[in-house]
Amino acid sequence: MKCRFCYVALSTIVLATGCARQETMPELTERVFAIAQAQYRQMDERLSENTLPRTLGPDGALITSDNRWWCSGFFPGSLWYIYEYTGDDTFRSLAEKNTFKLEALKYKGTDHDLGFQMNCSFGNAYRITGDQKFLEPIRTSAQVLAKRFSPITGTIRSWDFVRKGRDWKYPVIIDNMMNLEHLYNAGELFGDDSLKAIAVTHANTTMCNHFRPDYTSYHLVDYDPEDGHVRSKETVQGFSNESAWARGQAWALYGYTMMFRHSGLECYRAQAENIAEMLISRLPEDGIPYWDFDSDRIPDDLRDASAAAIMASAFVDLSSLTNMTGARSKYLAMAEKQLRTLASRTYMAAPGENGNFILKHSVGSVPDDSEIDVPLTYADYYFLEALLKYQNNTQPQPTN
Ligand code: GLY
Repeated sequence: MKCRFCYVALSTIVLATGCARQETMPELTERVFAIAQAQYRQMDERLSENTLPRTLGPDGALITSDNRWWCSGFFPGSLWYIYEYTGDDTFRSLAEKNTFKLEALKYKGTDHDLGFQMNCSFGNAYRITGDQKFLEPIRTSAQVLAKRFSPITGTIRSWDFVRKGRDWKYPVIIDNMMNLEHLYNAGELFGDDSLKAIAVTHANTTMCNHFRPDYTSYHLVDYDPEDGHVRSKETVQGFSNESAWARGQAWALYGYTMMFRHSGLECYRAQAENIAEMLISRLPEDGIPYWDFDSDRIPDDLRDASAAAIMASAFVDLSSLTNMTGARSKYLAMAEKQLRTLASRTYMAAPGENGNFILKHSVGSVPDDSEIDVPLTYADYYFLEALLKYQNNTQPQPTN
């Protein structure tokens, strides 16, 4: 049985002998999920019928969003992960209630984020419960998302708007790799190979056009919708057009790992391994990236906990998929390092702190001066996901 109130403030356990030993990963996971339960139960009480948590303002007040904000699926998704870990029906009810706040989104075809939104909420809901009532929103939203695909560019269009001072015709951001999981899942659930083919084509095109020779990724590639040629490669949320924005690199690692897991196509595993090697060679000692690997203020610059959490989840997955010599233990070790740092007092809240979010110190967009060094729902979501995956990946397999 899981203990809800067994919060241990330190990541070392002091034994009766007076010697300190390092907390085991199962102990750390138990401690994090105890905090997640306390924080998210209270968070839910602060939300109205139509709102979801987004972040904290400079005064520490909770900022919420409606279901259209790209992050709306992460809070319900985290509640599903808490239910998956604890088996506590209270969390199943909270997860279900917050998932259905997104139902009307299934027809929203105005940007690529539908994949993030519906996969984290309804996708997890069906995966964990098998309840058929979650299926129709998954199918409808996947079909709506697929309409954003162009066979001319070979990609799903990310945004319909153009930023002031930019000249985009068909912008695609690296983040978009994450939406492919929703298409792939729906393709498998409903036997629709056209959805899987769109995911594969988008991943292939992105592999050709988004990456530099050192396997860092551009943030945005703009295509000509008439003939598919690349018009420009630039950044929106990074330090410069040629820099490696940390969360973009995390989306890339996760995206190609996830695409290999679903499709079994070898080129995606190789791409994920190359990105992983690049990251391991560049990450700071504690595993938490600066918000951009090429910021000119390092080492006096902000870290981004969200990028670390996304990477940790991908590193755990890739550790079970790689067949490169020595890579399994290397990727698992990096994930463990990132998870231990995130679970430390520097990054993780104590119950009642941090506006009921779990992690501190994430960065939304420095160039936009938006969400700087704050809690963000996706940092919490991928942190919980990574811990669950780590637990499943490392537990002993039954022997027959
Ligand atoms: N998809 C937006 C971000 O990573 O900030």
